[in-house]
Amino acid sequence: MSPTTPTRSALIERSVRILLDGQAPSGAFVASPTYATYRFAWLRDGSFCADALDRHAQPEAAAAFHAWVCRTILAMRPTVERVTAAARTMGAAAMLPTRFELDGRTESGEEDWPNFQLDGYGTWLWAFAEHVERRGTDLEDHERIVVELVAGYVAAAGDRPCYDCWEELVERRHASTLAASVAGLRAAAHLLGDHELATVGSVLTEILERDLVRDGAFVKHDATDSVDGSLLWLALPFRVVALDDPRFVRTAERVEAELGVPDGGVRRYLGDTFYGGGEWILLTAWSGWVHHAAGRPEVACERLAWIEAQASEDLELPEQVGEHPQDPARVAEWLQRWGPVATPLLWSHAMYLTLVHEIGAR
Ligand code: BGC
Repeated sequence: MSPTTPTRSALIERSVRILLDGQAPSGAFVASPTYATYRFAWLRDGSFCADALDRHAQPEAAAAFHAWVCRTILAMRPTVERVTAAARTMGAAAMLPTRFELDGRTESGEEDWPNFQLDGYGTWLWAFAEHVERRGTDLEDHERIVVELVAGYVAAAGDRPCYDCWEELVERRHASTLAASVAGLRAAAHLLGDHELATVGSVLTEILERDLVRDGAFVKHDATDSVDGSLLWLALPFRVVALDDPRFVRTAERVEAELGVPDGGVRRYLGDTFYGGGEWILLTAWSGWVHHAAGRPEVACERLAWIEAQASEDLELPEQVGEHPQDPARVAEWLQRWGPVATPLLWSHAMYLTLVHEIGAR
């Protein structure tokens, strides 16, 4: 923890700056400028960065990100069409990529990466629809084509098991991935006026409600009774379940009780060994968001203050905090393999900005 807590306005300003500085001329956001493994652009991280910048009066930067996604998808259109047509049978390794070079090329492939992650595509559709709503103009022709392509892919592959938002467990169906796909398909249905897509979204919602609820709460994936911090996304922002639905209330309580650390941070899931499995800034922001929306502003403010206390002297937020690793014996191997925890992580700053905006704190 840093010796001094930054003033809120300084961290807000710095967070916006870190996102803008992390945006390549192409419009893509690097996941982290200082952590070699994260030198790429992820659709998932970038979509939340763009959404946060839209919320903080930077619509041009958000527009540049979405324009980059559109150019990138159009450049790989034959691949998207081929993969979508064979989405039911294609091996995971041949599905669409999860991360890109900052200029939009798919990554070089030198390193094996768990690419088949549907949530990034669903999340982008959701974020793009939010952006279009804010900008207040109709879809351009090429944007319409991109939304059709991405939604077609998500619709075709949406019920398949795939890697989750933490890039793990390819053989499972994950609740937050299904929720991102549903939100993306609903967003595309709205943008395109295509009700078929909404129907596919309803089928995925049925899978979620049938196979991923245990004892009145949503669970991480279809072969576990455990929870995951990403379950909070089901209500916010994906709205697949209402905030006051008893199953979501119970889920959020379990996340708090099982993954919350007494001084305020939230872990990803029990058994996480990445840098020993510490508390993630972005999930703590999500917890604050849920508390605020559920009418508990004082808890939301506590989460905000906890995040602020984790900023470095340079006002940078890490991916995770190592105050209370679940498994201290697993920290060293990651330090050796990939170096210190990614800092700054753009997505951490984006979720801090989102929480600030939701609370209206300045
Ligand atoms: C996380 C992903 C994230 C990526 C880039 C991974 O370690 O599990 O959720 O998209 O880093 O930040």
